Amino acid sequence: MRFGYFDDENREYVITRPDTPLPWINYLGSEGYYGLISNTAGGYSFYKDARLRRLTRYRYNNAPLDMGGRYIYLRDFETGHYWSPTWMPTRAKLDTYECRHGMGYTLITSSKHGIFAKMRYFVPLGANLEVWDVDLTNNRQTEAAIDLFSAVEFSLWDAWDDSTNFQRNFNTAEVEVPELGKTLNEMSPENNTIFHKTEYRERRNHFAYFSCSEPIIGFDTQRDDFLGPNRGWDDPIVIENGSSTNSVAHGWQPIGSHHLKVNLQPGESKRIIFLLGYHENPKAYKFDPVGSNIINKLDVWPILREFLDPSRVDAAFLELKHHWDSLLGKFMVQTPDVHTNRMVNIWNAYQCMVTFNMSRSASYFESGIGRGMGFRDSNQDLLGFVHIIPERARERILELAATQLSNGGAFHQYQPLTKRGNNDVGSGFNDDPLWLVLGTAAYVKETGDFTILDELVPYENETGTEMPLYEHLQRAMQHTLNNLGPHQLPLIGRADWNDCLNLNCFSDTPGQSFQTTTNQEGKVAESVFIAGQFILACQEMVQLSELHAIDGSDITFSKLPTAFYKEKALQMEDAVWAAGWDGNWFRRAYDAFSEPVGSKLNTEGKIFIEPQGMCVMAGLGVENGKAVQALDAIAEFLATPHGIVLLNPAFTHYYLNLGEISTYPPGYKENASVFCHSNPWIMIAETMIGRGDKAFDYYQRINPSAREAISEVHRCEPYVYAQTIAGKDAPTHGEAKNSWLTGTASWNFVAITQHILGIRPTYKGLSVQPVIPEDWQGFTAQRLFRGVLYNINVERKGKGNLVELFVDRQRIQGSVIPIPPDGTTEVQVLVYLR
Ligand code: BGC
Ligand code: NOJ
Repeated sequence: MRFGYFDDENREYVITRPDTPLPWINYLGSEGYYGLISNTAGGYSFYKDARLRRLTRYRYNNAPLDMGGRYIYLRDFETGHYWSPTWMPTRAKLDTYECRHGMGYTLITSSKHGIFAKMRYFVPLGANLEVWDVDLTNNRQTEAAIDLFSAVEFSLWDAWDDSTNFQRNFNTAEVEVPELGKTLNEMSPENNTIFHKTEYRERRNHFAYFSCSEPIIGFDTQRDDFLGPNRGWDDPIVIENGSSTNSVAHGWQPIGSHHLKVNLQPGESKRIIFLLGYHENPKAYKFDPVGSNIINKLDVWPILREFLDPSRVDAAFLELKHHWDSLLGKFMVQTPDVHTNRMVNIWNAYQCMVTFNMSRSASYFESGIGRGMGFRDSNQDLLGFVHIIPERARERILELAATQLSNGGAFHQYQPLTKRGNNDVGSGFNDDPLWLVLGTAAYVKETGDFTILDELVPYENETGTEMPLYEHLQRAMQHTLNNLGPHQLPLIGRADWNDCLNLNCFSDTPGQSFQTTTNQEGKVAESVFIAGQFILACQEMVQLSELHAIDGSDITFSKLPTAFYKEKALQMEDAVWAAGWDGNWFRRAYDAFSEPVGSKLNTEGKIFIEPQGMCVMAGLGVENGKAVQALDAIAEFLATPHGIVLLNPAFTHYYLNLGEISTYPPGYKENASVFCHSNPWIMIAETMIGRGDKAFDYYQRINPSAREAISEVHRCEPYVYAQTIAGKDAPTHGEAKNSWLTGTASWNFVAITQHILGIRPTYKGLSVQPVIPEDWQGFTAQRLFRGVLYNINVERKGKGNLVELFVDRQRIQGSVIPIPPDGTTEVQVLVYLR
């Protein structure tokens, strides 16, 4: 069952009824000011940090689920009937409803009682505010007198404190309110703007404003006066009565609500612009007059005047559209499959940008107060983003590297505002450092910019410890080598990619965090996954060490020879074959007693997905048939119609020696759900043994667009990937959870574009080596790579994956297109597959 449809032409998903199985959301903003917005205008906004600079409130486990947002109420003056044109929060039945989520904007339209309402929400580029562009049309035969009320609930900035520290924060709220009745007929922000300034009197230099473009006849800023005793957002007393109380918040719950009169002749329309924004004043100019507690608004009025002007709003919206056209235009494909086309060209790329910006901080499943930026997460997030804005990927890599420990290890997380490693979560996740090598490699392959390797970067942000990024990578590699276990496999530490495989934790205390609680000293438990990851990273170091000349004169560290990484990769491979191969697939790990995990010797958790993916991606078993064996085992034990589950059989009870993985009921999260992030590894592995049909089949199973038709089962948004889909052992098999912020976005983008379609950046140029389904006759693509546009045309001539490459009509050996001479802007690429 569907709840909408894709409008690919306009790059929108169109939701045709408000009661989707879950709120289906979108993101506004991509620079500093951000918002989450659902299809019924729910959600919240923040400036840069979802925890520390939260503008508006949202309660995650509320009922109804999606309560709190950017609300408009309309009230018929004659009859007193009122409704929300976004359906929530009144849920009064609408005559028509449509929500269009697009690239950085959301447009909700509806009609009721002959009033058509159109609300477009977006954040203009370069601005720290969001626009609500509201347009009302009277489709009645008679004049309509409508009272319009806006409503937002302010958060007291620190979202954690805001939802816990009530004894203090019920006293602190302060606002400044408009002076009513001054110049009713002209647009003047001075008379229409509500300011939220809690704690501005003391150490905060920032405040929020909520303004509108039309004269107002009233306002409210105290929530309980607006709602009335024991009422909710669905039936505020102010709306029922049709008049604001002009309340001024002193403590309690500050809100912003405007009251406007809109009189419309038959057929007449009226446009009203609301602005919700964030502003910081220099400390020295906080107050006006000096010595008062009144906000100095000198710098805000011009911003308000600018964006309250409808023509400026139109221009800003066009700029946003063009911005996304140019970002997404960098990589376009036309394949025989509509789901592939729209995910690659629109939604998957868009999700990669959002994940890059948000890491795991703010979604409808991530509260924005829980986590900082993950070290491994951010390194992987840039894999699918680096071609979109390489300069931002570069910045991120350097930021990540600056949190690295001098022994090569990594803090698991860092804080986006301070850019410092997060001590609460600490370190010891032994896969973390290696992701820095893989992330950096992806950047260099995309851009050819080897200079990043020479950038001086400190350890743990300590001045005086700076070393070239290249040395950071060497130490990351060395970190693995310094931490080998009894089978010469990498020690797992606190955990590897699978945060929940906690082999040194042994937690038996309720409520203890598996992520942070003190672990036993882990000198025994080993990870086969990290072994595969290390070999993959060695392959990058082999190439980086060969291709990157380090100037001998200012060398501050010793550069290890290429042969070193070749040798270490071989040794690790030997260790994997000696202790990591179970007979039919790769083992997952060794626990703290040196017993195998993910082996036929186990009764539960006999086979795991991660080592099959990682080891085959590193090339293990590709030559000797073992990769085929491992991938066939995946097909037999882990593949389901809804994707590939993480392990099998699922754990049915808690294992002290395995940790959090066995806390989840069977089929959920790390305990045998389809943990989507790991599925693309298998797709890539399948392409490595030449099985394009299988790779593409797995791609389709979790592709949200391909699952749109079963939205009542999938339940999450059909336009973005979710972290998990309940596995075959779960009563709700096929149900997705935790949409948007997942490494799946990047990895699936990599799997489909670089391995199935085979358009892959390499150090020496763009390579085209598709492994596509046998019945595809070909496809075309346009790829901007290092400033040159590659027009790629792939045609199937035989059933296999052999590539015959022509560049500007010249036959070229191999699959890598040589870097064209300077000044070239376009290259024609023809590939025959035989
Ligand atoms: C989740 C993991 C996640 C970890 C991060 C665990 O509870 O199951 O998926 O990586 O928390 O803190
Ligand atoms: C989500 C976490 O953000 C990620 O770092 C981890 O790899 C996966 N869960 C698997 O546990």
